[in-house]
Amino acid sequence: MTKKIAGFSKLSKLEKINWLTQTYFSRKEEASQLLKTYWNSDQKLQQLHDEFIENTITNYYLPLGVAPNFLINDTYYTIPMAIEESSVVAAASKAAKFWEERGGFKTTVLGTTKIGQVHFMYTGDVAVLQAFFNDIKPTLLKDTRSITANMEKRGGGILNIELVDKTDALNNYYQLHCTFETLDAMGANFINSCLEQFAQSFKDGFDADARFREPASPAGRSELNIIMSILSNYVPNCIVRAEASCPIKDLTEKGIDGEEFAVKFAQAIAIAEVEPYRAVTHNKGIMNGIDAVVLATGNDFRAIEAGIHAYASKDGLYKSLTHVSIEKGVFRFWMDIPLAVGTVGGLTKLHPLVKWCFELLQHPNAKELMQIIAVAGLAQNFAAVKSLTTTGIQQGHMKMHLMNILNQFDASNSEKDEAINHFKTHPVTHSAVVSFIEKIRS
Ligand code: MEV
Repeated sequence: MTKKIAGFSKLSKLEKINWLTQTYFSRKEEASQLLKTYWNSDQKLQQLHDEFIENTITNYYLPLGVAPNFLINDTYYTIPMAIEESSVVAAASKAAKFWEERGGFKTTVLGTTKIGQVHFMYTGDVAVLQAFFNDIKPTLLKDTRSITANMEKRGGGILNIELVDKTDALNNYYQLHCTFETLDAMGANFINSCLEQFAQSFKDGFDADARFREPASPAGRSELNIIMSILSNYVPNCIVRAEASCPIKDLTEKGIDGEEFAVKFAQAIAIAEVEPYRAVTHNKGIMNGIDAVVLATGNDFRAIEAGIHAYASKDGLYKSLTHVSIEKGVFRFWMDIPLAVGTVGGLTKLHPLVKWCFELLQHPNAKELMQIIAVAGLAQNFAAVKSLTTTGIQQGHMKMHLMNILNQFDASNSEKDEAINHFKTHPVTHSAVVSFIEKIRS
């Protein structure tokens, strides 16, 4: 049977499933039934999910967990996290409790502006282009009025449009580099709509402007070619700071000396500041916390990932996003990260679980959500580096992983209870769990 198909998107959902299972699966009925098992019994709700993307055949589940006791700027939060990795929520909860007992987290939003660019090629006199840009700028703003009216009413909108000469980097390359304030919206649609209108008005103005038809131009005939108009996911001016600090002596816990821990922890951060192999894993741990909250709140985790990793390399070397200082007996741990998130628009009012997560978070605005997400990332990094520099991570990881291994072997609830009890006092390894199951079953 051919594995190629024309007009797949036009088939009904059942026809799509039928084609897939007939074409790719040996146990056809079972494969098709599995997909249907994950449909929501509420047809209207299922249709809502179906319409999020094209060619939906079923729902793909991730666990939604919560990490309570996050004290942020003296307010308690329970943070929702959608993630598959066993140890992440447990680590977040542990770090939350640790810092709650030491004054909690503090956060500050350092900026909220976002960037979009119209990229174009221009051949001709740069002074003529600059003069044209100065003249047309008010028209660019006027022509976007219908798009910006609502945003401006709420206090946002277009903050700036600059002409940037990038010809040093690429022949004939220029940009309209634009700055926006999109308040509680992530703003992608708003920014892209403004940019496409700028591009149109810029091109129309260019075509109608006699200065570009001057045959005497020393740079030759002027030509303008708009290449594309798109927001940037690099948002180094949409930044939030999350931090936690306490006297070094307060870091002392059972089995851990505060002074020793602070120094070793700071060395671990210093390594991630100079060694990209370590920095990538270090920052991955931060993203465990960030992505989980970004997903739970229906935001675009790919945009957040791209922006944060670019920011981690802003000095020309990929580095740790978190930093430590030890001064006058005080341990301070902090992170500045770019986060362009929204609390209105997108999935936020559509996805029932996203709505639920927003209520759990007490309906934060975008600035508050930036702060919550940043704290989740900082806490996750604290938990990871604390484990790495003290017990190692496998102890905690494997404990959480125990349930996954038991599920792989279809363990019953009583087998799980027995295993959990046994592995309280025995190291969890894959082979130890397998032998344990075999033993209790024989
Ligand atoms: C695992 O998902 C994340 C860690 O590797 C992060 C780190 O090494 O800092 C534990």
